[in-house]
Amino acid sequence: MRRILVAGNWKMNTTAASGVELARGVAAGAPAGESGVDVLVAPPFPYLVPVKEALQGSVVQLGAQNAYFEESGAFTGEVSVDMLLDVGCNAVILGHSERRHVLGETDEVINRKVKASLAKGLQVILCVGELLDDREAGRTEAILDEQMAGGLADVDAEALKNVVIAYEPVWAIGTGKTASPDQAESAHAHLRKWLADRYNAESADSMQILYGGSVKPANAKELIGQDNVDGALVGGASLSAENFLGIVTAAT
Ligand code: G3P
Repeated sequence: MRRILVAGNWKMNTTAASGVELARGVAAGAPAGESGVDVLVAPPFPYLVPVKEALQGSVVQLGAQNAYFEESGAFTGEVSVDMLLDVGCNAVILGHSERRHVLGETDEVINRKVKASLAKGLQVILCVGELLDDREAGRTEAILDEQMAGGLADVDAEALKNVVIAYEPVWAIGTGKTASPDQAESAHAHLRKWLADRYNAESADSMQILYGGSVKPANAKELIGQDNVDGALVGGASLSAENFLGIVTAAT
């Protein structure tokens, strides 16, 4: 039985004060581990330390929204995997569609970040998802296959154990246009089959596959209740402790 993960991607939002307040609110309401539901928040880089302090003593995990693949050196503006581990991160979101389509990140760069993170023991939440044009042209599964193959190149079955996949149809992100439960289930089932074919049945069956794209308390239960949906990667709704915990409750 796979555990459920509800992760909040705060993106480029909050201040130190509002981020700490948000983290405290989530920490106060997060369910105990026995619930089978894990909770993670991913603040912007500058607030990782104060948010980690705010989460102290709680079950809520800390994630980052990006990482660079070099260990250290003359890479102005970048943040290394070691730095994220140093401040207490448990995981890192990689391959988010905003980094692919807004910031031009390629599968090759994403893969280097995936391998660098896994090599240091940092859990990876690898995002994949199609554009509306892709879906309307019937290219959804081809795009997912391409992004999975690109992001997981040279990642063996053992390293894969520290990977979580997040399916985020780009047309559902921040639009209020959530994928239907059937659309989400169909894409997740395809991703799980891809994992079975590329790796093995055990790797596929144990992989947590999150859904992301306009998840709200009102739609979370039906989405996360799908056989191949193992949680949510939440954007806008994660900026309110009440809404984010509403999704956690719906998942429990
Ligand atoms: O990474 C999660 C994010 O892309 C989803 O955003 O605002 O549609 O929940 P949102």
